[in-house]
Amino acid sequence: MKKILVLGAAGQIGSELVVYLRNIYGADNVVAADVHKNCPDYVINGGPFELIDALDGENFRKQVLKYNIDTIFNLVAMLSVKGEANPVLAWKLNMGALFNSLEIAREIKGAIFNPSSIGAFGPTTPMDLTPQDTLMRPNTVYGISKVAGELLSDYYYEKFGVDTRGVRYPGIISNVTLPGGGTTDYAVEIYYEAIKKKSYTCNLPAGAFLDMMYMPDALKAAVQLMEADPCRLKHRNCFNVTAMSLDPEIMAKEIRKHIPEFKLDYEVDPVKVKIAATWPNSMDDSVARDEWDWKHEYDLATMTTDMLNVLEKKLK
Ligand code: SER
Repeated sequence: MKKILVLGAAGQIGSELVVYLRNIYGADNVVAADVHKNCPDYVINGGPFELIDALDGENFRKQVLKYNIDTIFNLVAMLSVKGEANPVLAWKLNMGALFNSLEIAREIKGAIFNPSSIGAFGPTTPMDLTPQDTLMRPNTVYGISKVAGELLSDYYYEKFGVDTRGVRYPGIISNVTLPGGGTTDYAVEIYYEAIKKKSYTCNLPAGAFLDMMYMPDALKAAVQLMEADPCRLKHRNCFNVTAMSLDPEIMAKEIRKHIPEFKLDYEVDPVKVKIAATWPNSMDDSVARDEWDWKHEYDLATMTTDMLNVLEKKLK
C-alpha cells in the first residue's frame, strides 16, 4: 500500500482509519474522501481530501487516477436499521459503492479492503462460536448486501486477480465519530450517556449478546489484513474477527466499576431486537488468527477504562 484512498472518511470507522493510515504511510499518501465535508477538521486538513460520491463512478475514477491510488478502503455503507427503513437506497448505496470500487481496482490493478459484518449472518446461522465458513442467509437488506459483497469481492479476485480482502466486523465501539443507524449503536451510546447522565435507556434487551470490538483493534485488523502475506490467505472475503461477546447488562456492570451509580433500564426497539436475534452471539475468529495472525488487544475492562477517560475529557 503506497497510495491509499479512504472512501467514507466522514463515517465512524473512516474518520479514525484516515488518521491511523496517515501515521503509518505518511499524510500525503492517504487521500480521504466522502460525499460531504462533514468530518473532523484533521481529516480534511491533515492530508489530501476530495469530495467523492461513490455512486458517481466517473469522478471516483478520475480522483483515483489523479492521485495514482493503488489501494481503496471502501467504508461506504448504510447500516442495518437505517437500511430496513430505506431498503432500496441501502442496496443502491452499499452495492453501488462496492461495484465502482471493484471496477476501478480492476482497472488500476489495485487492492481493495471491503468490510463485511456480523450482519452477513442470519437466523439459520449457528449462533454460538459462529464458524468462518457456515450458512449465511441474512434477512436484512444490509446483511444481504454484505453477503453479496463478499461473493462479488471473491469473484473479482478469482476472475480478474483484484487483490480483494475484508473482515466481518462486529459492533465497533469508538469515541470520535458516532455510528449511525446500526443495531449495535447502543454499545457506543451507553458510554456517552454514562458520562452525561449516569443512566442509559437501552433499545436492546438484557441477554442480547453480540460481538463487539474497540476501534483501535478494528483499525489494526484492516491494516494487518491488507499487509498480510497473500500466500497464507486461503480465505479473502471475509474473515470473522471479534474481541468480545457482550450484552447490555455486562457492559453496565463494567461501567459501574467506574461510575457506581450508573443505572440501566430498557425501552426496546422491536426492529433492533428482531435484527439482533438473527446475528451471532459470538463468532469464532480462529481462521483469521491462523491465516494472518489476527489478535485483538482490548477486552471489556481495558476498553471501558479508555472509553470513559476519553469521553470524560471530550464531553466536559
Ligand atoms: N454495526 C452494524 C450495525 O449494527 C453491524 O455491522 O448495523
